Parts: sequence; structure tokens; C-alpha cells
Amino acid sequence: MKEEKPKYGWYVKNLIIVFNLVGLLGLTAFIYGFFIDGIIKIILLVSGIAIMLIFLWPGIGMVLMHLFLLGRISLVSKMKALDEIKTPRILDVGCGTGRTAIQIAKTLENGGHLYGIDIYSKLAIPGNALHTVINNARIEKVEEKTTFSYGTAIDIPFEDESFDIINASSVLHEVHDPNGQDKAIQEILRVLKPGGYFYLSEWNRSSWQCIGFGGICCFAFKKNDYWENLLKNHKFKIIKNEIIAGFGIFEAQK
Ligand SMILES: C[S@@+](CC[C@H](N)C(=O)[O-])C[C@H]1O[C@@H](n2cnc3c(N)ncnc32)[C@H](O)[C@@H]1O
Repeated sequence: MKEEKPKYGWYVKNLIIVFNLVGLLGLTAFIYGFFIDGIIKIILLVSGIAIMLIFLWPGIGMVLMHLFLLGRISLVSKMKALDEIKTPRILDVGCGTGRTAIQIAKTLENGGHLYGIDIYSKLAIPGNALHTVINNARIEKVEEKTTFSYGTAIDIPFEDESFDIINASSVLHEVHDPNGQDKAIQEILRVLKPGGYFYLSEWNRSSWQCIGFGGICCFAFKKNDYWENLLKNHKFKIIKNEIIAGFGIFEAQK
């Protein structure tokens, strides 16, 4: 019988397809430009190069990022609170299909529980849905240690001071409401126990990986300082900040 595999999906898969298709049109225009003469030649060569820079660069870059970069990042190995706290109550904000949440849940060998909330936007990950993450947790054999539900980062559906550890991986840049990131951080502070740990990871615009793999799309992301200031403004104590494979990873404490 064929082994059942979890479906985590590719981030922004539809965008990757569109970018590569448009980029290939640019490549076609560029190649065609070589074989004709006159002003059209210049137009085709110049527009071909421009379209390839804008679309093909991030289109191919994002494919390479999924194939070679994402697998290298072990966020769980950076979460020292997982070793420190014996039976932690953990919240993964913006859990999506569970790529990070399920890795965290797998470390809970001696008790503890992971809760995941998300608005399950399909823009970020096609196939993103509550039933997908629940199914992935079942396939990965962590269904007993996990509870997933619908919930937004700007109004977290849990009581004050109810978690030892909170994680938000590649989520806050997607919270677009006015002051949404401030509201999300306030909510994370509210539901975190005093002394509890918050792990934030975000694609860092000033890293070479962001520009190299993301091209022009890199400008959709913030620099590391932005997240650092956001945490400090909300009185989080930053314990560690590392840049790994283009991601700024913060360990902060309430
Ligand atoms: C790039 S995905 C990251 C998913 C997951 N954290 C991971 O590590 O694979 C971003 C996720 O943030 C979610 N999201 C966006 N805005 C949100 C909000 N206001 N509240 C909760 N989740 C949100 C999206 O639905 C999506 O699942």
C-alpha cells in the first residue's frame, strides 16, 4: 500500500507559476529579438531583459528556494524553550498547513500540547485549510498533541496568559490590517504567560538570499530592524536574533 504523505504545499505556488510563465514570454521575446533587425529588435531585446529580471528571476528563485533553502531551516532546533519547559502549552500563530507547527509538536515527547490558529488564506498556500492541517497532523502521528482551529492573529481566541511558548513563522508580514502587526504583537503578549517565550521568524529583506531568490519580490518583505523595533516597542526582551538562510529568527521573552 502506498504510504500517505502530508500535504504542506508550496508557499505562493500560483504566483510562482504566473511569474515563470510571464518570464518565459520575456525569454521568448529576447531570443526572437536576435533574429530580426531594426527598432523592433531593440524593443524585443530590452523588454525581454526587463520582463526576465522582473518575473523570471523571482519565478526561478522561488522554485530554488523551495528546493534548496526551506529544508535547511530547522526552526525547532532554535527553540531552546522546548528543552527548558517540561510540558509546555504552545501556540502557533498562522500555522497554515502545519509545516512548522507539526515539527514543534513532534518534539513534545513528555507531554505538552500545541494549538494552531490561522485564517487559512489560500493566497499564501494553495490547499491551505483547517482540514488539511488536521489531516497532516494525523499522518505525522501528532494528532493527540495538537489542536487546530480558525483564528486571527489580531484577535487571538484564547485567554490571557495561557501559553508558555508562542511561535509565528512567516506570518506577521501577511497581517495587512491597519496597525495589524502591532495588534498581533499585543495579542501575542496578552496570551503569553509572564516569562513565556515568543519565536518570530520573517524573511529578511537585507539578506542576500532574499534578493538572490526573491528578486523584485524581496521588496514585499521588511528588514530585520523592523521586526526588532516592533518587539522592543512592545517591551519584549530579545534574547537572540540570528539570520539563517535569509530568515531573521528572534527569540524573545515577555
Ligand atoms: C507563509 S504562510 C506560513 C505558514 C506556517 N507558519 C509555516 O511555517 O509554514 C503564512 C500564513 O499566515 C496566515 N495568516 C495571514 N494572516 C493571518 C492572520 N491575520 N491571522 C492568522 N493567520 C494569518 C496565512 O493564512 C498563512 O497560512
